[in-house]
Amino acid sequence: MSKFIRSSLVLLFIISSGTAFGNDILAGEKRYKKTCINCHGPAGKGAASYPKISGNDVSYTKSKLEAYRARIKQGPNSSLMFMFAKPLSDEEIQNLATYLKDATYN
Ligand code: HEC
Repeated sequence: MSKFIRSSLVLLFIISSGTAFGNDILAGEKRYKKTCINCHGPAGKGAASYPKISGNDVSYTKSKLEAYRARIKQGPNSSLMFMFAKPLSDEEIQNLATYLKDATYN
């Protein structure tokens, strides 16, 4: 294989895997539906005493999730969130925050 083709393939791989490193709305939605939806409702619209979490800036949601993951108290019920933020990777947090920013329910 020529050097050119090989480096093109490497480049292609980097570009096509780019979405795997955050800002992946579909991955965020999938992750959201795994656990978060049980409390925060469809598309993060909130349910009962659980806060609405859609429509916020990506940076806001990210900083909240990072704080919960680090077990830093935010509100009176943070301990609930500690448990669910603990397993999240940086990438998952980025994807979730991106998904939640524009999440709409239909
Ligand atoms: C067991 C119910 C429950 C689950 C499951 C849950 N949450 Fe929460 N979430 C809460 C509660 C309760 C709060 C308010 C916590 C506090 O008082 O600090 C909260 C707060 C938040 C906030 C901050 C809201 C704000 O504006 O202050 C974000 C963001 C959030 N959750 C995202 C998520 C994501 C993403 C998931 C899935 C990985 C998730 N939550 C799973 C109950 C839950």
